[in-house]
Amino acid sequence: MIPLRHELRLTLTRDEKARAGFVSALRRHVLDTLAREVRQDYQSQVEPGLTRDGLEPGAEDIHRALRGRDAFRFYSALRVGSQDMLYQTVRPAVEREQDRLVSTAERLSHKPGLGTLTLHPGLAVPRSVSAVDIHLMPGSYDTEYREADLTMGAVFENRLAISTFGVFGPNLDDIGQSIARFVRERHPGFAPRDILDLGCTVGHNTGAWKDVFPAASVRGIDVAVPCLRYAAARARAQGRAVDFEQMNAEDLQFPDHSFDVVFSSMFLHEVPARGIPRVLAEAYRVLRPGGLMLHMELPPAGQLSAFDSWYLDWDGHYNNEPFYRAFRAMDPRRIVAAAGFDPRDYTQHVVPSYSALGPEAWRAAVAEAEPGVASDKTGRLGSGIRWFCFGAWKQPR
Ligand SMILES: C[S@@+](CC[C@H](N)C(=O)[O-])C[C@H]1O[C@@H](n2cnc3c(N)ncnc32)[C@H](O)[C@@H]1O
Repeated sequence: MIPLRHELRLTLTRDEKARAGFVSALRRHVLDTLAREVRQDYQSQVEPGLTRDGLEPGAEDIHRALRGRDAFRFYSALRVGSQDMLYQTVRPAVEREQDRLVSTAERLSHKPGLGTLTLHPGLAVPRSVSAVDIHLMPGSYDTEYREADLTMGAVFENRLAISTFGVFGPNLDDIGQSIARFVRERHPGFAPRDILDLGCTVGHNTGAWKDVFPAASVRGIDVAVPCLRYAAARARAQGRAVDFEQMNAEDLQFPDHSFDVVFSSMFLHEVPARGIPRVLAEAYRVLRPGGLMLHMELPPAGQLSAFDSWYLDWDGHYNNEPFYRAFRAMDPRRIVAAAGFDPRDYTQHVVPSYSALGPEAWRAAVAEAEPGVASDKTGRLGSGIRWFCFGAWKQPR
């Protein structure tokens, strides 16, 4: 487990630490070793039969063919089981420390010069959040168990610290660190004044933008109150001035032309298909001319081999991610154009992991980075991960 680098860190019992270490190692084993075995089983035993008549199997053909096979069943059973263990591991510690989490957040809220937290009690949380325990997380993002509750934020971050077995970096913010640095590296003249992160959850990747562009005003929005409370406390505990506000990304309460960057990470695949055009149109509206919209996401199905696409779709079948496959089926270029951007301003990148490579190797990798999804590591949670992102610049630049 990655130890959290701030005051909201839980004090685990000896047994909890052992369990967290076990689950983390199990996740790595499943997502690296067993995933490789599923691929080998497919390539050696299944693919020759599927392609015998010169046919190109699709993701669903692959799913049907693998469903009864031992390698796939073992992988899936352990992946679901380890996911369940994650929550069972972190939840008792979070519940035990609820009082301390609430009082720490309260104390941090009085620290001067740090960001704001704005909640809107009348805001309706979409049923896509409130009615679905996304990725099998009991309570989803928004359930509140007491006054000033932070439970689901704490569950989310502690779960991340175990489930990602180090690939999200020491502060769990490798996506934000890698992508914000990538933007600065590739566009040295671009100096955003206002940055918005949509669906920020606990603000870990939001804060990375503040690290990379310290002069900018950085704001994260989300619909889930306990996550926002946790995000604000986390940022304050780490000394970052980031503002958090409860808001629906489909209906942003900002005037036109308010931001130079509109970012999101791992967000769009949790939005129902009908909401995606609204989120992108809102991003377009609130961007200033010359601004950049960028969404880190799973690579689209249309840019991967059928096997790699099927592999990513696993969550849509077995991890309670009901909106995942419909989003991955979309063509990012088309949805970006439909939101109002000029199709010629479409941009996509495969960004190397900053925390995995370190500054020098990372810079060299960025210099060579291609926009195409050539590697099976892109978007696949496992060692060597790279981050796919897509978006567009708003004209005139
Ligand atoms: C997978 S999490 C995002 C993770 C986070 N951005 C990261 O980098 O790890 C999805 C988040 O989107 C939020 N969300 C879902 N629908 C939303 C909407 N319409 N507007 C704002 N936030 C929303 C959820 O509450 C949840 O916190």
